[in-house]
Amino acid sequence: MPVITNIDDLKRLYQRRVPRMFYDYAESGSWTEQTFRENTSDFDQIRLRQRVAVDMTGRSTATQMIGEDVAMPVALAPVGLTGMQHADGEMKAAKAAEDFGVPFTLSTMSINSIEDVASYTTKPFWFQLYTMKDTDYVSRLIQRAKDAKCSALVITLDLQILGQRHKDLKNGLSAPPKLTPSTLLNLATKWGWLAGMARAHRREFGNIVGHVEGISDASSLGAWTAEQFDPSLDWGKIEKLMNEWGGKVILKGILDAEDAKMAAKLGADAIVVSNHGGRQLDGALSSIRMLPEILDAVGDQVEVHLDSGIRSGQDVLKAMAMGAKGTYIGRAFVYGLGAMGQAGVTSALEVIHKELDTTMALCGERSVAGLNRDNLLVPEGFGGRWS
Ligand code: GLV
Repeated sequence: MPVITNIDDLKRLYQRRVPRMFYDYAESGSWTEQTFRENTSDFDQIRLRQRVAVDMTGRSTATQMIGEDVAMPVALAPVGLTGMQHADGEMKAAKAAEDFGVPFTLSTMSINSIEDVASYTTKPFWFQLYTMKDTDYVSRLIQRAKDAKCSALVITLDLQILGQRHKDLKNGLSAPPKLTPSTLLNLATKWGWLAGMARAHRREFGNIVGHVEGISDASSLGAWTAEQFDPSLDWGKIEKLMNEWGGKVILKGILDAEDAKMAAKLGADAIVVSNHGGRQLDGALSSIRMLPEILDAVGDQVEVHLDSGIRSGQDVLKAMAMGAKGTYIGRAFVYGLGAMGQAGVTSALEVIHKELDTTMALCGERSVAGLNRDNLLVPEGFGGRWS
């Protein structure tokens, strides 16, 4: 077993073990990837205030997200095609999250279905919904999530049209992969992955295949989104979906204070400040840079979470000290999953937990609730309004 001390260790193993097409899918932003890069480099601009001679015994990273107890304020983000990164990837990641005590969010575009994940776990998970033109299908999905006892619906608002990621187009991304000569050549070097996939419960989009009639190409994320996603989604439709669900709702993909105000007005339980990991609107500002403005606008009305750019426990601490009430990791857990399956997701969570805990101690804080803006040193103008 390799010694894993940070998320980059997992990423290196992941790159070696998983087919190029799926590594590239996770590791891409849209167009020039400026937003993708700045999501992480902007975290580096924020520094931490060292404090000493503060009793650090009895520290805890535990807190709540939308009223649910969490071992640390880090949920697993919904990530499409997770079951292509490792056999039964969503089931394995959900189990690792459950065992660790953090929420798992299942993507609509998952390989394992809602029912697969429910049968492999004992605690409620969150379900992420994409809205589609076929409203009957959306209603059936919502019902399936209710039947599976999902405890929150995460409605993604920033992907009615798929951002262009050059590598996915060039690789012919699909689930399962189409066996072109270059894909076959690459797969020939990924024996562990192939052996796992041969035994996997599923190799296609489990929430879609067998649940919708007359799809022209159910293996392609690009084709499915272009054909099925509802480009007319507006606040009225979001409200209807929230009513249809009737339970806790998290609105994901908010990057603007005006949109945050609309989401708060609708009564969302939380919003996620997110640019979809830099995969949608390239040129948008990073999530951590937009967080202060959004907190100013709605921080006293709705729980504000953040994703896009979190790769360490220090990043988690920075977002929480800025005022977020929770964070999400996507790529960071996918690296672990691709590297070592369920144990790798646990390893990613352990790495982040240790970094968060140690950083809290060295900042002189014993609880997540105690983290605040004074723990941070933020450059002049950071997060200030751009015009
Ligand atoms: C889908 O959510 C994607 O970002 O590919």
